[in-house]
Amino acid sequence: MKKNDEIELEIIDNGINLEGIAREENKVVFIPGAIKGEKVRARIIKVNNSFCIGKVEEILTPSPDRVEPFCSVYKRCGGCCGQHISYNKQLEIKKELVKNTLDKQKVNYAGIDDVIGMGVPLNFRNKAQYPVRKTVEGVSKIGFYAKRSHDIIENEECFIQDQEIDRLSKEVFKLLLLKGFEGYDEKENKGDIRHILIRRGYHTGEIMVVIVVNNKNIFDDVRMEEIIHILKEDDNIKTIVLNYNGSKTNEILGKEEKVIYGDGYITDYIGDKRYYISSKSFFQVNTIQAEVLYDTLKEKLNLKGNETLFDLYSGVGSIGIYLSDNVKQVYGIEIEPQAVDMANMNMRLNNVTNAEYIAGSVEEKIEEYEKRNIHPDVIVVDPPRKGLDLDSIEYIIKFAPEKIGYVSCSPATFARDLKMLEPYYNIGVVTPVDLFPNSEHIEDVVVLTKKK
Ligand SMILES: C[S@@+](CC[C@H](N)C(=O)[O-])C[C@H]1O[C@@H](n2cnc3c(N)ncnc32)[C@H](O)[C@@H]1O
Repeated sequence: MKKNDEIELEIIDNGINLEGIAREENKVVFIPGAIKGEKVRARIIKVNNSFCIGKVEEILTPSPDRVEPFCSVYKRCGGCCGQHISYNKQLEIKKELVKNTLDKQKVNYAGIDDVIGMGVPLNFRNKAQYPVRKTVEGVSKIGFYAKRSHDIIENEECFIQDQEIDRLSKEVFKLLLLKGFEGYDEKENKGDIRHILIRRGYHTGEIMVVIVVNNKNIFDDVRMEEIIHILKEDDNIKTIVLNYNGSKTNEILGKEEKVIYGDGYITDYIGDKRYYISSKSFFQVNTIQAEVLYDTLKEKLNLKGNETLFDLYSGVGSIGIYLSDNVKQVYGIEIEPQAVDMANMNMRLNNVTNAEYIAGSVEEKIEEYEKRNIHPDVIVVDPPRKGLDLDSIEYIIKFAPEKIGYVSCSPATFARDLKMLEPYYNIGVVTPVDLFPNSEHIEDVVVLTKKK
């Protein structure tokens, strides 16, 4: 097989990015856009020692699960990768992927549920962060990055974003251009506006606008006053924040911020708990499914009311506060200080008096509880994609709680970490919850119980 060869391939599986997988000449061929069971004619666009990448030229035998993508820029845009697959099939594939990952690591778990999907898997994202870029022709554009590049794909309507967020992001963009601001030039590290980030409370409708700028002088630019004046006409816009990011980096937000309108946060509900959310604090992007996720965790934990619970990687305290009525005491650790401020405010907002949140990394701060002689009955972990680090796992094992609730956004690190906890804990039934329809991502929740 060499580059530009056109070959007929049987798709034998779907991979972690929902791409089709075939085998040819003892090599794995990854074919984005193909579905298990299909026969395709593909052109080889990349050849590596162990694998190749193919591009679908023609679908010879379509899968019964193939559907027409609902978005006109789907093929080019990097925002979604599953729109060509029926939603039920996406859920089936995601379940298979989680199961295969656990089985590959030889994790001994009690079973896996079907993925809990969304009723209507559209317009669910409560947060959009659109790059704003200046092209070589000098035109400023807003959109998603194209697949595997930083070219901007403009789109009239994005069907995964909250519709109001989608509309407003374009309005803010136009307003910024009208006032003479320009998009960011990534190559030269020049220009004014890097990203427009908008959050909207699903239940409250409250909106936060964050404009990420490449030049700190914009913090005091009078044109921003004019922009505030126009935007605040919309009663739902509760706060506007300028964030400065001057580094050559893929990270969206920089460290420094200036709140130019409102308090710097909005609120939203998950179930009956209300949460303050700021620009830098993590909050699940799919509010409806976050509630399903937290309820699944709650049900699996089967709390009695007398437990001491650690909420590790706690964000704005969402899980700990959600469970606070069902336990004696909550202790949370979160690395982002702004999120910890929100967690403390969220306790007051919900009249929660049995929780305490501290700022710092889990690996460094967890020993404080040992020093304070605090022993957890339950530890809930909800780490970022890189999963738990070894120090934290050792501490969790040392604390020996009766139960561990593990919420994960990465099947690979989830399986790795469960394997390390397995000698000490029985691993229950894994429940995948789909918070990210039409993408490759999936959340998993499981409860581990201490071996006798
Ligand atoms: C997946 S989010 C979960 C947040 C929260 N549990 C929720 O449901 O909204 C992971 C959180 O871990 C935080 N984080 C990342 N690395 C950390 C570390 N080493 N120690 C503590 N928190 C960390 C991130 O800032 C983020 O808020």
